[in-house]
Amino acid sequence: MADMEALKQESRIFNPSAELASQAAISGMDAYRALCDEAERDYEGFWGRLARENLSWQQPFTQVLDESDAPFYKWFGDGKLNVSYNCLDRNLENGNADKTAVIFEADGGEVTRLTYRELHGRVCQFANGLKSLGIRKGDRVVIYMPMSIEGVVAMQACARIGATHSVVFGGFSAKSLQERIIDAGAVAVITADEQVRGGKQLPLKAIVDDAFALGGCEAVRNVVVYQRTKGKIGWTEGRDLWMHELVAQQQDSCEPEWVESEHPLFILYTSGSTGTPKGVQHSSAGYLLWAALTMKWTFDIKPQDVFWCTADIGWVTGHSYITYGPLAVGATEIIFEGVPTFPNAGRFWDMIARHKVSIFYTAPTAIRSLIKAADADPAVHPDRYDLSSLRLLGSVGEPINPEAWMWYYKNVGHEKCPIVDTFWQTETGGHMITPLPGATPMVPGSCTLPLPGIMAAIVDETGQDLPNGQGGILVVKRPWPSMIRTIWNDPARFRKSYFPEELGGKTYLAGDGAIRNKDNGYFTITGRIDDVLNVSGHRMGTMEIESALVAHPLVAEAAVVGKPDETTGESICAFVVLKRPRPVGDEAKQIAKELRDWVGKEIGPIAKPKELRFGDNLPKTRSGKIMRRLLRVLAKGEEITQDVSTLENPAILDQLKHAI
Ligand code: WT7
Repeated sequence: MADMEALKQESRIFNPSAELASQAAISGMDAYRALCDEAERDYEGFWGRLARENLSWQQPFTQVLDESDAPFYKWFGDGKLNVSYNCLDRNLENGNADKTAVIFEADGGEVTRLTYRELHGRVCQFANGLKSLGIRKGDRVVIYMPMSIEGVVAMQACARIGATHSVVFGGFSAKSLQERIIDAGAVAVITADEQVRGGKQLPLKAIVDDAFALGGCEAVRNVVVYQRTKGKIGWTEGRDLWMHELVAQQQDSCEPEWVESEHPLFILYTSGSTGTPKGVQHSSAGYLLWAALTMKWTFDIKPQDVFWCTADIGWVTGHSYITYGPLAVGATEIIFEGVPTFPNAGRFWDMIARHKVSIFYTAPTAIRSLIKAADADPAVHPDRYDLSSLRLLGSVGEPINPEAWMWYYKNVGHEKCPIVDTFWQTETGGHMITPLPGATPMVPGSCTLPLPGIMAAIVDETGQDLPNGQGGILVVKRPWPSMIRTIWNDPARFRKSYFPEELGGKTYLAGDGAIRNKDNGYFTITGRIDDVLNVSGHRMGTMEIESALVAHPLVAEAAVVGKPDETTGESICAFVVLKRPRPVGDEAKQIAKELRDWVGKEIGPIAKPKELRFGDNLPKTRSGKIMRRLLRVLAKGEEITQDVSTLENPAILDQLKHAI
């Protein structure tokens, strides 16, 4: 990030309000330290206590942590439970049956509310529907759905019958979807006819059909289609079914399938530095424990709260803080179909006011784009809306720069709402390093301190601890319940990616750089240490984009780097060598557009390079290695001051200096 230096020196401190602190789940730093001490003293006792207190077990566990097959750790191994039971039935039994579980707001503004009883009924009906299709415990089901109650119902229904879901974000292309269907070995796909975003209808079912046309999806027996728009779609008799027809005859109760703690609840694909996306596999018990517990610790959730996480269910944030966490603690939550800028950039503030949202959780990219919009048009400034219901704010997915933090704190939270800057990853299942709203003094731009029981540390390449004030590699030294269990179909890659031998084979490597403040030990994330980009909080591997580019018939070679971007955090800059002479002028512009669209089709619109530059070659060492470090400097538009004497072709740098 461009303002890293400023960030490291940030020293403004904001204390949690006394009122919030006095009633918080973790009240004050002494309470926080007491929990940390408990975990230090008796790690298994600590986690065992929390798992008994926070989850309902069909069969209690006797063993907490099994490290015998490290790094393939097992948690609560001999216990049995059901995730959907914990999210739904439990609420019917403890007095929440008539409480609003979800408030769905459609893109166009229509609002639908469901109580816990109603949501339970819907999930059971759909679970019975899936069973009627022969879907059983352990089967994989791909979900390619818009933001909807039905999307959450589909995930919960899978959990209820013990099927492992794999949600694919609705912005991914047919090819990305096909790869995931094949890798997961899915027996069914759940989708919608279309999705609606910003007033536009966009295809989903048609993309599923395209994915099938690419081949290899023969294991899929059925495609279940939620009717969202009634738009025209293709239909394969015998394979395709309407969701409403499937559930019409089904009972609204369904005995949950009791599964082992380690039973895979879901697989979620995410980008790594090399190769194809990794199927991050999560457990049932450990994962749910952390989703529920972080709702209490980080969000201090209370019975009267209205909780709104703006993420999509296609990302892990939507899994943990829409589908599972809020329901596991009996909260009322918002599910939003649309986008922050439709019908105008006041949509979030308007929704907070109308639904009396008390906890609001969004991404820095959204905040930065809404700052811009509010600057340009005072009518969509948060001060035009009644945001007095808010009591807590959250940030997720990428570093939040201090300017955006201050704006959020002042204009949205009116200096009374703490901001929890939550650092975590698809692989961690839930929050890892974050302020506690009723305890931790906040510093803009710092995710502050690890949650109790999370043994985060900063080390060098050999695994040696580094002193505070010295930047290094972020690791977690002990396993925790919601950690990734393996990479689906690729345990060797799991070991190599996250528990490398250089660090001893038992230390979790996050893939981020970090530094701790000299005085208070606060963590600041300094960005990925691998070739993973973060664009608008969306994670992408440079290699994936490069592979997509070189798959185009015109492209000989491509290198992709991230470039700091004021709004999206990072943006994608691609350096491309064509199989024909380097294009200039209009021809360059036209080919750039063609390649951008190509990447959109290969991966999805979120992977389209913002900028493309053409060269006769790429800067390479004499051994042929592309010097990405130099490309990053060029992308930023800065002068190269590094030593380029090892370069085979230094003259190429001049050619790549300028945007088209
Ligand atoms: C990567 C994980 C967090 C769940 C959604 C994204 C970056 C995430 C923060 C934060 C600085 C952050 C890291 C991380 N990141 N949160 N609060 N401050 N960086 O999950 O797609 O798996 O991405 O996002 O680089 O490794 P993801």
